[in-house]
Amino acid sequence: MTTIVSLDLTRWQVPPDSAAQQNTIQALERGDVLLLPHLAFELTPDERRFLSPTWSDARAKNISLEAGVLQGARGEAKDLDALARMIGRFAACAGELVSTLFPRYAPYVKRARTSFRPQPALGRALSWRKDDSRLHIDAFPSRPNHGERILRVFTNVNPTADRVWRVGDEFAPMAQTFLPRLRPQLPGSPALLALLRVTKGVRSEYDHLMLGLHDRAKADGEYQRSCPQQTVRFPPGSTWLCFTDQVMHAAVSGQHMLEQTIHLPVTALYDPESSPLAILQRICGRHLLPAH
Ligand SMILES: [Fe+2]
Repeated sequence: MTTIVSLDLTRWQVPPDSAAQQNTIQALERGDVLLLPHLAFELTPDERRFLSPTWSDARAKNISLEAGVLQGARGEAKDLDALARMIGRFAACAGELVSTLFPRYAPYVKRARTSFRPQPALGRALSWRKDDSRLHIDAFPSRPNHGERILRVFTNVNPTADRVWRVGDEFAPMAQTFLPRLRPQLPGSPALLALLRVTKGVRSEYDHLMLGLHDRAKADGEYQRSCPQQTVRFPPGSTWLCFTDQVMHAAVSGQHMLEQTIHLPVTALYDPESSPLAILQRICGRHLLPAH
């Protein structure tokens, strides 16, 4: 079952070569969740007003900042500027944490999106496929990533309420459970989906299997109830990180979270053999990416 490893850091910048670093790298890459219970992202008194769902526009699930552009928020320009500065400050903190704790990942920290979630974790009517209260790995139908890793740093900025997750089985046994139930990709369908712009780029066999694992696990109510799992509470003022393409996770409750996504090539890992790509290729006994 997924393990939670606690680290007693209080600053976003980690001193180099700290004793715990090697163990931390191994834990993250084998699919543990790293919990930093005392690493808080402090809001200024002025920023506390952003802890309200009223800043979300009605359509988007999250407020996001990507390449300096704020999306999914509504309000006056000066307020949105202040909100973007708060989210940008968190992006810088999360980037500093990842670059100093995992120096090999440092070249990749600038590339992806930062999200602020002032909405309650649950409470929206969703299809089962979009229902993140079911255990799942992250895999996105429109964004094939050809094995690229999804590393996420989360922080709970709620002043009083925990953020609560369930975490499930480890990646390899989960994959062994569901791979036999997946259908192969139809020949020609990856090229067609890309041509129709349903996907951004061509869906590889790896992407097809990851989507299949995401969907079959979410759809299987019996598995959701009976698989190895535990509930994890992330208290106010705590930060946690994990590879969400590897860790089976489910939202239980919470509100007001900041999240930084970092995409990493498999070659940036300390141990590329620990990646979902390598694990699936071992189980399937073949390459899952097109040859270049
Ligand atoms: Fe997820």
